[in-house]
Amino acid sequence: MAIQISSDGRTFTLQTEKSSYQMMADAHDVLLHLYYGRKIAAENLEERIFRSDVGFAGNPPEAGEDRTYSLDVLPQELPGSGVGDYREDMVRLYHADGSCAADFRFESYEVQEGAYRIPGLPAAYDTGEEKGETLVITMRETASAVKVKLYYGVFEKENVITRTVCIENQGKEAVILDKALSCNVDFLFGNWDLIYFEGRHAMERIPERVPVRHAKVEIGSIRGTSSHQYNPAMILCDPAATEDFGSCYGFCFAYSGNFVAGAQKDQRGLTRVQMGINPVQFRYTLAAGEAFFAPQVLMSYSSEGFTGLTHQYHDLIREHICRGAYKHAKRPVLINNWEATYFDFDKEKIVKIAQQAHELGIEMLVLDDGWFGKRDSDNSGLGDWYTNEKKMDGTMGELGDEIHALGMKFGLWFEPEMINEDSDLYRAHPDWALRIPGREPNRGRDQLVLDMSRSEVREYLYERISSILNEAKIDYVKWDMNRSVCDLFGHELPPERMGELYHRFVLGVYELKERLLAHFPQLLLEGCSGGGGRFDAGMLYYAPQIWCSDNTDAINRLTIQYGTSFFYPAGTMGAHVSAVPNHQTGRVTPFTTRGHVALSGTFGYELDLNLVSAEEKQMVKEQLAEFDRYYELTHEGDYYRLAKPGEALMAWGFVAKDQSRAMVTVVSTDVEGNPLAQHVSVKGLAEGRNYRCSYNGIVHDGSVWNSCGLTLKKVLKEYESLLIEWTEV
Ligand code: GLA
Repeated sequence: MAIQISSDGRTFTLQTEKSSYQMMADAHDVLLHLYYGRKIAAENLEERIFRSDVGFAGNPPEAGEDRTYSLDVLPQELPGSGVGDYREDMVRLYHADGSCAADFRFESYEVQEGAYRIPGLPAAYDTGEEKGETLVITMRETASAVKVKLYYGVFEKENVITRTVCIENQGKEAVILDKALSCNVDFLFGNWDLIYFEGRHAMERIPERVPVRHAKVEIGSIRGTSSHQYNPAMILCDPAATEDFGSCYGFCFAYSGNFVAGAQKDQRGLTRVQMGINPVQFRYTLAAGEAFFAPQVLMSYSSEGFTGLTHQYHDLIREHICRGAYKHAKRPVLINNWEATYFDFDKEKIVKIAQQAHELGIEMLVLDDGWFGKRDSDNSGLGDWYTNEKKMDGTMGELGDEIHALGMKFGLWFEPEMINEDSDLYRAHPDWALRIPGREPNRGRDQLVLDMSRSEVREYLYERISSILNEAKIDYVKWDMNRSVCDLFGHELPPERMGELYHRFVLGVYELKERLLAHFPQLLLEGCSGGGGRFDAGMLYYAPQIWCSDNTDAINRLTIQYGTSFFYPAGTMGAHVSAVPNHQTGRVTPFTTRGHVALSGTFGYELDLNLVSAEEKQMVKEQLAEFDRYYELTHEGDYYRLAKPGEALMAWGFVAKDQSRAMVTVVSTDVEGNPLAQHVSVKGLAEGRNYRCSYNGIVHDGSVWNSCGLTLKKVLKEYESLLIEWTEV
């Protein structure tokens, strides 16, 4: 049983294969958090809590004369607000009389078979025979008719526990929800480090590791998207934890909008970890009878270091988050014209690019930005999703036919959530763009943002996108989003509901994607937001791959893909071979290296192959063969980080689930005169089974490879790379 409940129905232990999580309703019905970590027997652990009279901690009325009982020090599942826990609250309520108070106590519980769903939001789902289990605990607010349902979904095999909350106003008067986080975990003891992933446009998801002390460590976004600047995922770990050893806890938010996540020690050394929608610019009115569902947090624990945690997340995301026809089906190798042409193209140029790519074996043409409206630069046209038939020398249907006639699939770029002021759409519906009356809006890339919470906006977009998809039999859509969101004002919302707009925007985006996918079940959706500005588990529920970064430099990509790999599988990362000197960095790297780096993602090309040498064309063919050969490993295998960015020899690898094969990619990022040996680690091969290494033909037992690795015979030059395979013999 994944959910074990004591006979008195007050202690709950969630069991996965390798982890346990325990909470308990105490004598005053406070829901205490007692344990999260390595798997243990489901025995009550209340004695872990040290009780003493803590000055200035305060005691709730029911504690009577017991000064050792204080909400301010207890580890809790749902810390309230304004009633004696002075630490970070999780759910904050303003009542009709203006008071701000929330005191939650255990009321009842229910166990449900299967994973729970969240209306309008992504959530990890069951596949096939494998059914998760859900525990729903209902908490009552002591002085109002607000109930909070705490959801815990258990995915045993993946060692994942999902969390969310649903806040229901069962009273007669409206209540204002000022903060509604999805998850709170109070770690009673221990010193911890926090690893989060910072970045910027074209340089996303760089891990940063800091100790958790008494000053809060917090990341978040108020950009309307999960953001380039901080990814909505973090790891709390033992300060000694490495890739291979030590306790670590992952928190990954399945949501694509504003978020906050952080950790802080309290006065007695307890560490409170939280994640949820950012309370900044969030204010939700819960009318009588209304309920609010928060987005889902995916929690996972590994006692085996970051690699173990990564495998758990990769398995969960591949199997229980990504959906659709391409969940496991082989993704087509694509050619994208963006870096090949930018806005400067016509039909002839595009068809030539497609023809050359097809000759070399590439399977899909993706026509990027610039095919619609008046769009010869990024200053105009967004919103006018009508083919520019002059530029495209005919209809999109005709171009689609031509591409399909080559035997290629056809993909198209859209940026549905955006509008340029210089567009017919804006001239017709200026009020569809987000802007605050009486204020000039902030522009990003010269564009404004559509109010995706409005149904007529979504209706227009659905009609436009679906009619083009139908007309040109589009196989793939790259759904872009190229600015941060501000100037929030909902023309349809009453003033007291303005604080709901950021969230309603995300719900609107999800709804439109869901509707399109329901109508076009074969469609492959690629997410994108100036590269990786919305790379999150929420988006992966709709788009099983996301353009990882606008930075295509193979050496910078080592850092970006490394950081991305902690939570997200290689098969979710869009990665392309582009031209040199690289357009973002000016760096020149070998064609082979660009290929090797891109092969660890959803592979493609982003250059005009008519312009490369005959030798490079030959390399394209070889790369396509490598893509096929290693697809199973890169897209379904276990991922191993074998070096860190900054090391002179960067390396990572994949091992097949049945451990019959492995591959390792190495890239030399720096060289010195009189070079030292270059040595590569290998991980994950089975002990007691023999493997031949493609690099030197040597056969060793898996234990030997795992412990000794491989010494290169010849030192790689700067930016040179190798792809090495181990096969069981
Ligand atoms: C964003 C994307 C790029 C490209 C351009 C087009 O920056 O990340 O890949 O599609 O928009 O304008």
